[in-house]
Amino acid sequence: MKIKVAVVGATGIAGQQVLASLDNHPTFEVAALAASERSAGKSFADAITDPDSGIRRWYAAGSNPAPEILALPVQDAKGLDLRGIDLVFAAVESEAARELEPIYARHVPTVSTARPYRMEPDVPLVIPGVNLEHLALINEQKRRRGWRGFIATLPNCTATGMAITLKALEPRFGIDCVMVTTMQGISGAGRDLPALDIVENIIPYIPREEERVQIETRKILGHLGEGAIAELPIRLSATCTRAGVIAGHTEAVSVGLKKPASPEDIIAAFQEYGTEFTRLGLPSSPRHLITVHRDPMRPQPRLDRDVEGGMTTSVGRIRPDEVLPNGIKYLLVTHNTAMGAGKGAVLLAEYLAHAGYLRG
Ligand SMILES: NC(=O)c1ccc[n+]([C@@H]2O[C@H](COP(=O)([O-])OP(=O)(O)OC[C@H]3O[C@@H](n4cnc5c(N)ncnc54)[C@H](OP(=O)(O)O)[C@@H]3O)[C@@H](O)[C@H]2O)c1
Repeated sequence: MKIKVAVVGATGIAGQQVLASLDNHPTFEVAALAASERSAGKSFADAITDPDSGIRRWYAAGSNPAPEILALPVQDAKGLDLRGIDLVFAAVESEAARELEPIYARHVPTVSTARPYRMEPDVPLVIPGVNLEHLALINEQKRRRGWRGFIATLPNCTATGMAITLKALEPRFGIDCVMVTTMQGISGAGRDLPALDIVENIIPYIPREEERVQIETRKILGHLGEGAIAELPIRLSATCTRAGVIAGHTEAVSVGLKKPASPEDIIAAFQEYGTEFTRLGLPSSPRHLITVHRDPMRPQPRLDRDVEGGMTTSVGRIRPDEVLPNGIKYLLVTHNTAMGAGKGAVLLAEYLAHAGYLRG
């Protein structure tokens, strides 16, 4: 029998990516949907369709909502009926997530794309294939809080791509410091960024983004200690901007390593990274966590964000950085709503099922 899931925030960009990733899924079956009181009481079709114009707000490129999903009722997230639900995907705005996620996690495992609990000491902040050992915090969280379920979180979508590449480098060369400048896709801002702000423009500020990238990356790269993560003490400086690209975050990363490494050493580290995880063959897994380009015109968001279903991090322009000690620099493209949110949440849930964290 399939594991029955509820998708909360189903009407939003990340929630729709969860739904698209769960279409005909071998392990999970969507049994309930929820969103704000604005959508509650409507069918999913009505909740995402403007009644006057008939315009449907569906954002998961390359897919359509299945008829049985369109017919499902959308519940009010506050009163979500958890009877018969084995797992919740929570993809709601931050303030709502703070209130809602503990309500669910008291009873069932909850995989979250939102920010509020990411930095709690007993909450794992996980990228599939990168730091799955941090899931051991789940037992501590359940014990401390007396919950039957738990919260497992995914990072900020900007931290995701960079942390994957840094984790490939850290064990081999050590990392002293990182500087990153991002050009982030519009869909990372949710549904409501006005077109007039972003078309033919670069927006130089994304509230709270730089701090989140900095602190979350240190936790993701950290080591599992006694009931908490000992963060990796790297110096990290981020400049985050929003660019006129629908999806895909492009990030220019410079890394000061503890040991010298040539571009070829870096390429080898990227290409050899993550095979133990990808060999599991989980349904939403990429075949390669990192895809390396030698063509200096790659990676580009338009060409590379959807490679391997949006689940690989594409890296190119790997070259020495003359300013940082043992410096190396590169560009990467990561799909913010796929690996960085909805599909990454599904991949994490697939691993949780594989590792025995679901059902009991
Ligand atoms: N977009 C990305 O690339 C991305 C990447 C990583 C993480 N995230 C995180 O994922 C979460 C969702 O982001 P998004 O981009 O999908 O946002 P979004 O497109 O704006 O969707 C927000 C969702 O939250 C629901 N919601 C809002 N207020 C609510 C409330 N008070 N109670 C219950 N549900 C409520 C909305 O329901 P209604 O339709 O009823 O308003 C909608 O389903 C955020 O925490 C975001 O930081 C997003």
